[in-house]
Amino acid sequence: MLKPDAVLANNAGAITKMIEEAGFRIVAMKKTNLSSELAGKFYEVHKERGFYGELVTYMSSGSIIPMILEKENAVEDFRKLIGATDPKKAEAGTIRALFAKSIDANAIHGSDSDENAAIEGSFFFSQFERF
Ligand code: CMP
Repeated sequence: MLKPDAVLANNAGAITKMIEEAGFRIVAMKKTNLSSELAGKFYEVHKERGFYGELVTYMSSGSIIPMILEKENAVEDFRKLIGATDPKKAEAGTIRALFAKSIDANAIHGSDSDENAAIEGSFFFSQFERF
């Protein structure tokens, strides 16, 4: 999911190009917005964390672009491509090193397991309910 900072800065094209060049196939993609209720639901696993409120406010502050991506070993390879959550710790050349502005405005989110990829994919794309 491209986050509001990436979309607002017109970096969606550049980031999507990196994703495709890294061998991912875009199976579904759209531009949309999250209400704070929906952002809260998407990030429900972080509900008890101190940063949850700010994260929800931030993620509902502007447009996002969720995608379903396909590749062998997709979860691990995508996490390598996007880099560490905190852009200050992200390896040079990764999407977050290149485009992220802060730990919340960190350009992009990637699923952390195949199971969560299926849950998060169906959150945005009803045709992938049985993904
Ligand atoms: P993301 O991969 O979207 O998953 C949860 C998000 O919470 C994370 O990226 C960050 O943007 C945000 N976040 C803010 N503070 C923290 C923190 N201390 N640790 C992890 N994630 C954080």
